[in-house]
Amino acid sequence: MTRLDDLLTQIDHSRIPRHVAIIMDGNGRWANLRGRPRSDGHAEGVTSVHRAVEFSSDMGIEYLTLYAFSTENWNRPQEEVDTLMHLIGWAIERELPELLRNNVRIHLIGDIDRIPDDARRRLRNSEQATAHCTGLRLLMCLSYSSRWEITEAARRLARRVSDGDLDPESISEQSIADNLATAGIPDPDLLIRTGGEQRISNFLLYQIAYSELYFTNTLWPDFDKVAYAEAIIDFQQRERRFGKTSAQVNNN
Ligand code: IPE
Ligand code: IPE
Ligand code: MG
Repeated sequence: MTRLDDLLTQIDHSRIPRHVAIIMDGNGRWANLRGRPRSDGHAEGVTSVHRAVEFSSDMGIEYLTLYAFSTENWNRPQEEVDTLMHLIGWAIERELPELLRNNVRIHLIGDIDRIPDDARRRLRNSEQATAHCTGLRLLMCLSYSSRWEITEAARRLARRVSDGDLDPESISEQSIADNLATAGIPDPDLLIRTGGEQRISNFLLYQIAYSELYFTNTLWPDFDKVAYAEAIIDFQQRERRFGKTSAQVNNN
């Protein structure tokens, strides 16, 4: 029995997280450790994305949200930004046939207008081409930051108030959620960050209010199905109380 087979027997298939979000960190360090350019780490990271999508589909996870490029990442050296944009466009196009075969639907989350034309066209094409798919929903966060998203939501609500379409007193937590890029999508149950840092880096601040957080030192290119299965098993061992007592949760 392989280590993966062993872990798969430990997963409770009646308690799979509906929505998993991942901060895919550590590509640069993975390459550095091998004396290779950072771009090699990003390229290897694409293989990891492929694996994570496949495993999420196999596990019956409904939503997988991947943090691929943050608003702050625009401040990296131009050469790295260019390489990443090229890689993202190339990878999405290459993966499209298999995504379609696996019934995966792509959603783009973020300030997509900032993405260079060529990559943006390929990304939009993948979103349109998979719009009919009914399997895993893959949310790709690109040029995304949570403060950007919340600011946009505030602006949209304020516009409706000033137009007289919305009473400020009627704004609820749900109205905020409905104006985020993730409108209609349930909050993540499990948030994974690879690469050893224990921070959120401006990701889904509103949506992760009650997510289970899982930090691993494994660098993103090394995050394989074993590592993913371990994260799910760890998640399944936790008690989600949502403010209640343990006794209350267990009596339900
Ligand atoms: C994550 O890996 C990928 C992106 C942020 C685009 P990094 O490029 O941040 O890798 P490290 O953190 O420098 O190792
Ligand atoms: C977070 O990684 C963003 C993505 C994974 C896309 P970073 O490497 O940019 O995060 P910080 O800057 O170390 O917090
Ligand atoms: Mg990093």
